[in-house]
Amino acid sequence: MSSSATTTVDFISHSVEQTIQVGALLGEVLQGGDVLCLSGDLGAGKTALTRGIAAGWGAREPVTSPTFTLVHEHTRAPDGQMLYHIDCYRIESPADAWSIGLEDMIYGEHVAVIEWAENVRDLLPPDCLWITLSFLGDSERRLSFRATGERARALLHAFRERTVGRQAGPGATKER
Ligand SMILES: Nc1ncnc2c1ncn2[C@@H]1O[C@H](COP(=O)(O)OP(=O)(O)OP(=O)(O)O)[C@@H](O)[C@H]1O
Ligand SMILES: [Mg+2]
Repeated sequence: MSSSATTTVDFISHSVEQTIQVGALLGEVLQGGDVLCLSGDLGAGKTALTRGIAAGWGAREPVTSPTFTLVHEHTRAPDGQMLYHIDCYRIESPADAWSIGLEDMIYGEHVAVIEWAENVRDLLPPDCLWITLSFLGDSERRLSFRATGERARALLHAFRERTVGRQAGPGATKER
């Protein structure tokens, strides 16, 4: 199996629409078993990014913030695959994580997008795609993508290929 060298990509978003667009390009290349770990302060844009990811992946229902329900499940028609949108802001212990069924969602054949993933860092599979969002200005955000395993590297590589020639990139992306 060929290995891809893409491990980190940085992207500067200038608007919420651009963040959603970037998410959609990533959503289009997701495969079952992928785990996306979103990190960043309150209001950084994790849910906005997830909105795009779910749309690109093929979710039928719009994404809303799962803060109070902790998990939103999306299904898509063609193959019945699920996308779990999980908010770990209030998860403080492995017991909390267990109570929402985190393990089944992140070690299965479906897709998981986790907000506040740092709160469950020790429970995550070794091969994940981390996306850290940070504030640069009122409507500017840095999106830093980091793959921690072979599958996530391939995903990041496929994502970057899709951004080439699009408005969303690649001028603002930097591959290391
Ligand atoms: N470039 C940008 N990308 C994403 N969001 C942006 C951007 N510029 C402005 N925003 C605004 O920032 C806010 C991001 O909110 P969002 O709910 O996505 O954040 P979050 O990281 O999920 O927060 P929380 O930790 O509370 O769940 C929205 O109000 C959005 O309109
Ligand atoms: Mg959110």
